[in-house]
Amino acid sequence: MAKGNITSDLFKQPCNFIKGATRPEHYPLPRTPEVAFIGRSNVGKSSLINALVKRKELARTSNTPGRTQEINFFSLADTLTIVDLPGYGFAQAPTRVKDNWIDQSLAYFKTREQLIRVFVLVDSRHGLKKSDEEFMVFLDSVPISYQIVLTKCDKTKQTEIDQLKTDLELDLKKHSAAFPDVVLTSAKDKIGLYELRGVLLKLLQSPR
Ligand code: GTP
Ligand code: MG
Repeated sequence: MAKGNITSDLFKQPCNFIKGATRPEHYPLPRTPEVAFIGRSNVGKSSLINALVKRKELARTSNTPGRTQEINFFSLADTLTIVDLPGYGFAQAPTRVKDNWIDQSLAYFKTREQLIRVFVLVDSRHGLKKSDEEFMVFLDSVPISYQIVLTKCDKTKQTEIDQLKTDLELDLKKHSAAFPDVVLTSAKDKIGLYELRGVLLKLLQSPR
């Protein structure tokens, strides 16, 4: 789709799985701008991607933390590549798995030049954890532009969400690569999808 023609109709277009990969040499060739979804295990990354592109089980979801183990690449109408990463901070994972995760994901973030934004998902019930902070510091250091997205807002009281959003936006001032606004979402109740799609459309219209 040509840049000038990118409208909300993009999200009515088909979204397809390209491939799953663990190492840079297996990543698909860069064809379009790319965005990535990252966050603690079980935060709702795969569910949010499905909700965004209106597909039920395009990205596989699960109650069991650690469901997504490869870096999965999806193409939305050959216009935007969406990447679902394995979650971090899964305390029960064996050390070998954690080390693999770190190597795999850090390689991804350091090598994908067409990556225009990373969405760091945070569970609205739990707020920022140490692993999120560490990951944000890493993104600041690369640097890669990122934005915080609160998930599962259907499970959290509005007053708590408002407080968390205010605290987060204050905290984000300390992070040089963080986008200042936080997006509130629920994949279950389809909250914030319109807004998140708007963020993506704006990025595609002027990527940097
Ligand atoms: P990993 O791949 O294991 O890192 O997990 P993930 O971050 O991809 O999470 P996933 O989308 O698989 O969702 C984990 C669990 O949270 C599943 O049981 C989902 O049904 C549930 N879930 C995801 N989004 C929401 C939401 O918006 N609201 C509620 N209530 N549950 C959700
Ligand atoms: Mg997943």
